[in-house]
Amino acid sequence: MRNKVTIVGSGNVGATTAHWIANRELADIVLIDVVEGLPQGKALDLTEAAPVAGFSCRIRGTNSWDDTADSDVVVITAGIARRPGMSREDLVQTNAGIVRNVTMHAARYSPGAVVIVVTNPLDIMTYLAYKASGFEPHRVMGMSGVLDSTRLRAFIALELGVSFRDVTALVLGGHGDQMLPLMRYTYAGGIPVEQLIPPERLGAIAERTRYAGGEIVELLKTGSAFYAPGGAIAEMVEAILRDERRILPVAAYLNGEYGEYDVYAGVPAVISRKGVERIIEIHLTEFELQCLKSSISQVRETLEKL
Ligand code: LAC
Repeated sequence: MRNKVTIVGSGNVGATTAHWIANRELADIVLIDVVEGLPQGKALDLTEAAPVAGFSCRIRGTNSWDDTADSDVVVITAGIARRPGMSREDLVQTNAGIVRNVTMHAARYSPGAVVIVVTNPLDIMTYLAYKASGFEPHRVMGMSGVLDSTRLRAFIALELGVSFRDVTALVLGGHGDQMLPLMRYTYAGGIPVEQLIPPERLGAIAERTRYAGGEIVELLKTGSAFYAPGGAIAEMVEAILRDERRILPVAAYLNGEYGEYDVYAGVPAVISRKGVERIIEIHLTEFELQCLKSSISQVRETLEKL
């Protein structure tokens, strides 16, 4: 049986995710969007690349939920993206309606799927999708920590002039300006980066990581990032479909972990075919824990307003 992944939303993030997934030969892909022609056009364009790119996945564009039936993974990217000067929170009202609606459809057509939410504001949309799906919380997760961490990894590798592959990093908390890049848990070739980079440079890199999404928005002017987000989603899809049990930072449902209940936040978790197998509680300093809690309370405040 071939795996099947549905990507809801065929904008830049959705289409780029399809591209990375096809490149890794992970699954057959369905791109679905409300705009007629858009998912069909992007799917056809990607399909025509298959002979030269060398993948054999089938990619289909559609406006009909029927075509998404029995997907193994559903990725939700639908919604509006930021423009310069907007925060992720400015998107909440518009995207809440969209995410609730598409999740209900996705869950009805693919009752066994694992759902990855990407629409911003991420932690809030993931909670809404969890509620709208009626799924157990471990089958609904949000993509943010893998993106925030890959950005931090890239900045560290550039700073040191070493391979991107050798840097591992951990960014926790909400996918907002209060996210928590943890330099204590960031390594280059197994060496703690605190031994390789002076504290003031590390501080500047942490700051750049927190605002990395906004840096791209300011440069592009017409939308937000999509290559790194799409790559991060593909990494999570691979961990799920190949049942890898990778440790990845994802927005996961907290039920007592880190002293928090009934909220989604970015934490390290073991990701497998089941979704979030378990959350790993790491040691945090008093200050780090306060940062994490304040990032979570920001998420909670916006949720209550809804
Ligand atoms: C970013 C947006 C997608 O971080 O949240 O680029």
